[in-house]
Amino acid sequence: MTTVIVALGGSLLRPEIEERHSWLEELVSVIRDRVSMNDRIGIVVGGGAPAREGIELARPMISDESHLDKIGIAATRLNATILRESLSDSGIPVSGTIPKSIDEAVLLLETRQVVVMGGTNPGHTTDAVAIRFAISSGADKCIIATNVPKVFDSDPKSNPDAIPYDSLTHDQLLQIIGSSEHTRAGTSQVVDPVGAIDASESGLTLNILDGRNVNLIREAIVGGDFQGTEVRGG
Ligand code: UTP
Repeated sequence: MTTVIVALGGSLLRPEIEERHSWLEELVSVIRDRVSMNDRIGIVVGGGAPAREGIELARPMISDESHLDKIGIAATRLNATILRESLSDSGIPVSGTIPKSIDEAVLLLETRQVVVMGGTNPGHTTDAVAIRFAISSGADKCIIATNVPKVFDSDPKSNPDAIPYDSLTHDQLLQIIGSSEHTRAGTSQVVDPVGAIDASESGLTLNILDGRNVNLIREAIVGGDFQGTEVRGG
């Protein structure tokens, strides 16, 4: 029996992704298959467009970043609800509620094969939640499903010569992503540094991949080769 936690970038659920209905159906189908193989799966959903829009709308009136973070957290829970209801109506044994803390999520995963949640508290993103959920539940790994194919040595959107990595140590990942602070609500790096530090301290394996292709998520859950960047202890 494998336990895997997946951080699902919120942008995957929203209009940036074409064919998003079939994407969601394929995701539900992957979860169904893995449940039939007795896997346990925790899914932590990001905020995507509603988080960004809400934070941008309120920013001129709110100076406390943690208050803006709360808007982001509400958006992550909206997206988590979309996925939870879709899984539940497909007959998948998913927890009946969206847990609001890691402790609650870990307890739920002991009784249900699938748990879906969003954010917890201000000060980090859902990557960090997924990584803490993976550590606390003794998961085999944490999959970070985002919208880039791999971790690059610099931002591939601004540098066409950016070099992609198939594998990295935790120390190398920390060097690439830099700052350990969550300073601004709604901003994002390939992996949240707050989570990357926790993963490094506990030696948790991370699989970072392009979640727009659901098959990559399937490959990473099953184990063995997958397309993306694997981060392990040095
Ligand atoms: P996301 O996890 O979606 O962060 O949370 P992100 O990396 O900015 O976005 P994606 O993954 O590319 O879609 C959105 C925002 O919600 C707040 C933060 O402000 C975060 O930037 N948040 C989320 C929290 O404060 N705490 C949480 O536990 C989760």
